[in-house]
Amino acid sequence: MPGLLLGDEFPNFEADTTIGRIKLHDFLGSSWGILFSHPKDFTPVCTTELACASRISDEFKKRGVKMIALSIDSVEDHHNWSKDVMAFNSAAETSLPFPIIADDKRELSVQLGMLDPDERDEDGMPLTARCVFVIGPDKKLKLSILYPATTGRNFDELLRVIDSLQLTAQKKVATPVNWKPGEEVMVIPSLSEGEAAVLFPNGVTAKEVPSGKKYLRYTQL
Ligand code: BEZ
Repeated sequence: MPGLLLGDEFPNFEADTTIGRIKLHDFLGSSWGILFSHPKDFTPVCTTELACASRISDEFKKRGVKMIALSIDSVEDHHNWSKDVMAFNSAAETSLPFPIIADDKRELSVQLGMLDPDERDEDGMPLTARCVFVIGPDKKLKLSILYPATTGRNFDELLRVIDSLQLTAQKKVATPVNWKPGEEVMVIPSLSEGEAAVLFPNGVTAKEVPSGKKYLRYTQL
């Protein structure tokens, strides 16, 4: 089974992109990174996704996250497609605020386990699924999501998970269902009551449950 597990070092691949040839780790430097793949250039859902990613790119920048897209066409196609994407956004610029990797030989798509066997091009070759990889400053994989080609992603959700990943990388907390920045967080189970009291001076409240176990512990940071 190809593919990466959480905690694995993300491959330091070399690739041709719309900003020239890059080595991924050099491109990322000490930043967080997000790599999102697309099935094909000049396709409708991908165009809406890239347009959205472009519109909210400042939000990724604010969080110190470098963005990079991937699709299985050439650099030339990517440049031409970018003009359509920016026109879709009614933007004056013709290039995107992040590079697109040209994986026209599908080498990276195979290496990273990104092919969608249910979606094929006119030659019967599988297209890339909609993968999302979030890479930490330590170059380790922090999150991966895999959508089929027929389902577009929610880029606001990607910002939300990045907020959670960055917060939980620093503090011994976890974020509950549908959490948004500023809301209460949960104390991780491995922390004792005494340790939690020291780490969370705003107090920790445990929700009463029939089992009597105090595992639903909330705090406001
Ligand atoms: C799209 O981006 O619209 C798309 C690409 C491949 C399969 C289905 C949809």
